[in-house]
Amino acid sequence: MVARKKILDVLNGGREEIPPIWLMRQAGRYLPEYQKVRASAGGFLELVFNPELASEVTLQPIRRYGFDAAILFSDILVVPQALGRSVRFDAGEGPRLLPADSQFIASLPDWNINLEVFSPVYETVGLIREGLRHEGYDGTALIGFAGAPWTVACYMIEGGGSHNYAFSRSWAENRVEELAVLIESLSEVTIAYLVGQVKAGAEVLQIFDSWAGLLTDQTDFRRWVIEPTRKIVMAVKEACPHIPVIGFPRGAGPLYEDYVKETGVQAIALDQHVSMAKARNYQSALPVQGNLDPEILRSGEGLEKAASDIISALSHGPHIFNLGHGIVKETPPEHIARLMQAVRRMKE
Ligand code: CP3
Repeated sequence: MVARKKILDVLNGGREEIPPIWLMRQAGRYLPEYQKVRASAGGFLELVFNPELASEVTLQPIRRYGFDAAILFSDILVVPQALGRSVRFDAGEGPRLLPADSQFIASLPDWNINLEVFSPVYETVGLIREGLRHEGYDGTALIGFAGAPWTVACYMIEGGGSHNYAFSRSWAENRVEELAVLIESLSEVTIAYLVGQVKAGAEVLQIFDSWAGLLTDQTDFRRWVIEPTRKIVMAVKEACPHIPVIGFPRGAGPLYEDYVKETGVQAIALDQHVSMAKARNYQSALPVQGNLDPEILRSGEGLEKAASDIISALSHGPHIFNLGHGIVKETPPEHIARLMQAVRRMKE
């Protein structure tokens, strides 16, 4: 018998009395059991590229809270490695890469892309599916993911995170040809990577464009956010027609509308700054996901009310409950238990 997966029904336009729920960064440092495995792995990347351990930390939040979806434990910054750019995660410092320069960009068109780096990730996907089945989570879907080319390019250009992403903005304005080459290469690799995840067992895909909001000019946004995303969505649809893709152009503000209309994504993930009026608007075109403020989850203040306001506002169409961005690491695990209760108690 094939179990019903609520989240897949909603992604296909269905409506549920109690919305399916998962949370961005549901596997991670706020969980003591994650910290333990992370310490035993030695480092973040060692964890990401170890299929046994990566599948274990993917399953941890499912066991604790019974989310409707598991999300592959990996990172958006594995993609630069296929382009020959290694990434380091120093303790407490975030990612570090060699900043992209003209020499690197010039090498890209003939670069011998190394898709082998993804093999352990695909193995992780297979192990997660097996684990979910083995442990009886038949209603839990597995989400694969990648960063959108623009966001991954930002990290490659800056050489890591940044306060204001000044170099990335400047490339978008003044080094358009070079940025186009980088975005093109990233798009190609990302298509292969996402299709590979589906072949390995991913049932849904999410594209994280965490820095979409840096591009406030509509023309720039179309060129660097919408166009590459549309290309990826089309290619994935062609290779895997039944796999829903969720798009997350974080911080896009009024440009969310163009993204919804033009990218071809099957569902839209909303950050916490999107109003419920706008959310309902988008919901008339496609399923929406979101958008509780992660800060409310951390503090716990007004948590139940905030969750129920979102659920009530979006109860007339397809809605997947989530945060507006990832769980912050200072979040007490009990607050997530409270959130689960609040969501699942609704209308029972
Ligand atoms: O549970 C999940 O959501 C799945 C795993 C996941 C991680 N990163 C694990 C991770 C996912 C989906 C991501 C996506 C990701 N990675 C994004 C897009 C979403 C977002 O947060 O905007 C981005 C921008 C990255 C890049 C990245 N990875 C940064 C900037 C950092 C350092 C800052 C931070 O939050 O620690 C990471 C590290 C990272 N990725 C951690 C985890 C659990 C923490 C690493 C650790 O254990 O020390």
